Amino acid sequence: MKRTARRFLWLAAPLALAAPVLAAVAQNGSPPGAPPGGNPLELKYSTPNAAHGAQLSASVCQSCHGPGGVSTNPEVPRLAGQVPGYVRFQLAAFRAKLRPSPVMQRVAASLTDQDMADLAAYFSAQAIGPAWNTTDAALRARGEALFMGGDPARGAIACAICHGASGRGEDHLGVASITNQSPTYALAVLHEYKNTPSFGGIPQPEAMRIVVKPLGEDDLRALVAYLSSMTR
Ligand code: HEC
Ligand code: HEC
Repeated sequence: MKRTARRFLWLAAPLALAAPVLAAVAQNGSPPGAPPGGNPLELKYSTPNAAHGAQLSASVCQSCHGPGGVSTNPEVPRLAGQVPGYVRFQLAAFRAKLRPSPVMQRVAASLTDQDMADLAAYFSAQAIGPAWNTTDAALRARGEALFMGGDPARGAIACAICHGASGRGEDHLGVASITNQSPTYALAVLHEYKNTPSFGGIPQPEAMRIVVKPLGEDDLRALVAYLSSMTR
């Protein structure tokens, strides 16, 4: 067993700490309530139909997100293996124009609640894509240490506490999968968490904003080098 693996063996306990840490973070951040007039992120749908999701993906999403949601463009997020709740909430947030992105707001405008659930069911069942290349081994190693252990002296929380040591997230807690996520996209979204307020209505609107607060640019780059190549 590799030394790092043994050192972080306690994390193999399946996300036992995620719920209490999320609860503490939520209290700390006084999350915004649902927007006035009801929560536009609450979707109404019946049993998701992944086969219909596959058809929609092939005709609408694949040109940007890649076949099966395995994007090969570092700026476009991978959707393969993403937890379904996260995909549904993000699509609803684009449609409600709560999450910025002219491209995705246009795409989501043409999707029904049922389409969103079908797409989420399809993408969550696809195998995550291969690792991205990282040329800087030292940077990646720093990212791995932060990901697994955090840096308590600086108040940096280990990513693995919520995302899991495998980075595959936790659907019922609203935690996204980030394993082998596209690197340029991941860095952009971490900057967004640092620089823009959250939108209400998702399960954990403040979690990532609190997590990134003590982290500097070097930390974010190291973390992205690791998370974009987790399963190599
Ligand atoms: C023209 C290119 C394009 C098309 C077509 C497209 N997307 Fe996207 N999508 C993007 C880009 C770029 C982003 C990143 C947006 C941002 O955060 O700035 C994105 C983000 C997303 C996200 C958020 C992912 C995350 O990890 O937070 C989801 C979910 C998503 N797209 C789903 C879809 C689905 C489903 C379709 C098809 C119905 C689709 N997209 C079609 C370009 C596209
Ligand atoms: C307290 C729990 C928690 C911790 C700790 C945590 N995350 Fe997250 N993370 C979440 C939640 C919840 C989401 C999705 C919610 C959202 O969109 O704000 C998320 C989303 C993300 C995303 C966006 C995924 C996407 O597809 O857009 C990235 C990247 C990410 N986290 C990276 C990290 C990194 C790196 C760390 C460690 C420095 C970390 N997270 C620590 C809870 C956590």
